Parts: sequence; C-alpha cells; structure tokens
Amino acid sequence: MRIVLIGFGTVGQGLVEILRDKAADLKLSENFVPQLVGVVTRSRGSLYHPNGLDLNGLLTAIKAGSLDQYPDTPGLERGWNALQTIQAGADVMVEAGPSNFETGQPALDYCYAALENGQHIVLANKGPVAVAYHELVSRAKAAGKKLRFEATVMAGTPSIRLGTQALAGCKITQARGILNGTTNYILTQMEDGMTYADALARAQALGYAEADPTADVDGWDAAAKAIILAAALFRARLTLKDMNVRGIRDLTTDDVTAAKAAGERWKLIAQVTPAGGSVQPTRVPLSHPLAGVSGATNAVTYITDLLGDITLVGAGAGRLQTGFGVLSDLLEINEGELISRI
Ligand code: HSE
Repeated sequence: MRIVLIGFGTVGQGLVEILRDKAADLKLSENFVPQLVGVVTRSRGSLYHPNGLDLNGLLTAIKAGSLDQYPDTPGLERGWNALQTIQAGADVMVEAGPSNFETGQPALDYCYAALENGQHIVLANKGPVAVAYHELVSRAKAAGKKLRFEATVMAGTPSIRLGTQALAGCKITQARGILNGTTNYILTQMEDGMTYADALARAQALGYAEADPTADVDGWDAAAKAIILAAALFRARLTLKDMNVRGIRDLTTDDVTAAKAAGERWKLIAQVTPAGGSVQPTRVPLSHPLAGVSGATNAVTYITDLLGDITLVGAGAGRLQTGFGVLSDLLEINEGELISRI
C-alpha cells in the first residue's frame, strides 16, 4: 500500500512511529506492507519518493526541526505541495493536518483531489468530516474508493467502527459522552490542585490539544466530534449552528473545589440526536458513569433500540493512540484490497 501523508505533527509522527516499530508484526499478522511515498507539511518541508521514504529518517529529520534534514537519495523530490504530492500517485491519502471546523479546508480539497486521483482516504483531520461528510461519502462512492475516519472521534478507540459496523442493525437514537481529551485532562488536573493555565500547558505538551487549543477549551472540538458521530450513525446533516456549545474556559478552581466538596465532579458532556445536540460543562455525582472517566480518557454511550445502552471507554487523544486510529483504517482498507484480489 503506497501512502501519502499530509500533515506530520503529533498524529502523523505517531502513525510513522507505529509503522516503523510494528513493521514485522504488521506484515506477518495482517499482511500489511505499507510504503510511505510522500510526506507534506506546511512549514517544515515536504518529501516524495516513488519507492518509499525511510521511516526512521523521517522521524529523525522532523525531530531535528524540518524534513529538509532528511538525507538526499536518488529520485527524492523535495518541496512539493499537497496537491503535487497527491497527483504524483499513491493508493491512500492520509490527512492528519490541523482541523478547521468551519470550512474543513484546505484538507477538504486534498480529499477531493485524492479521490480524483483514485486514492482511498483516511482522515485524522476532523474538519472535512464535520463540514462535508455527505459530499465526501457521495464522491468516494462515485470514485469506488473508501473513506475512513476512525481517528477523528476518541482517537483510536473504535467509536466509529462500533457504531457503524458492530452495531449495524441496531437503531442508535442518541450518542452522549466525553469527547474531548484536553478538557477532561484539564478538569482532572484542576481537581488535583493544578491551575487551569498549567493544566492546559501540560495537555499541549502531551500532544492532546489542537494546534489552536481554543477549539478544545471552548467546546468546538467536542461539538465537531458529535456532528461526525451524528453523520456516521444517523446520516444527520448537522452543523455547529445546530449545537448548543459551551466550553470550560470560565470554570474556576473555586467551581471545581465546590463540586468536589459536594461529592460531584465537572465533566464536559456532549450529546447528539438526529435533530441536534449540545456540549455543556455539567456537574455529575461521583456515582454517575462518566464521573470516573479521568484524564485524557473519553467515553461514549450509544442508546440503541435492540441492546439498550452501550458504553465505550478509552483513549480520547494522544500521539500513538490517534496514530493507531489511522492504522486501524489502513488495515481495513488493506484487508479490502487483499480480498478483492482473491
Ligand atoms: N484535541 C483533541 C482532544 C484531540 O483533546 O480530544 C483528539 O481529537
């Protein structure tokens, strides 16, 4: 599988680390032999090699500050932009650039270009799915290509796969839970006495926060994930305007302490139905199922007709955790390609 990777930040690097460290296992147990032919960044260089790039060389170069540090090899192209790289050819485009929740751009155009060039799409970038899910699905179907986006909601914790595949045949009427790792981490740390600013700085250092963390603390990241769930689970066409959103920016240490003294805990709870949804800081009793979900862990409950409530708890953010989400989609596409060749 020849892959181009657009965006080489926390998630892209996590994916490449996994591909490097698990190469033998993935080949042996999954019959998965990826070849990363292109990597594109906005400001830290871009590389393309038709025979594949060296994963360790990529990680060493980016850790030194730029892909310009990657060693010269015959046939290596440098400095191409995303569209040039996509047009150069691959089987799958992975988009792991920063999420734009209003326009989905520029990633949305990269998705369209990838489909026009016969490539499957794997998104860690939430923007295109939150803004244009239905258009993407219709273009992917027309092109006969797969569109996968497990990493967009709860990192690699299989929230999308659970809802769309494992629960196929059930009707899901509502999804609700904790869908943002950064804010849940901040709330947990504040309860342990850390200031809001210090906790946010730690969340950024740990690779949980968005490039612009206002999307996390003001609730828009959780709202976008709820919209993605609504699109994937209910085929709903919601936008941010359909969501009643408040973040945790105004919560003070006093608010957190007061809740604690009353045997309660603040959680940023997202919920969505086919008609709309909300993201709101909510005080829950310690006996509430979401009260024990702490740090960057997230949880989602699907309310179903045949099974009642199904709750999934797991990583909500993080380098390897989100990198794994992308890997899980690549494996699914690889499996499909292998089967179609039989
Ligand atoms: N900033 C996001 C979060 C990353 O904190 O949940 C995972 O989507």
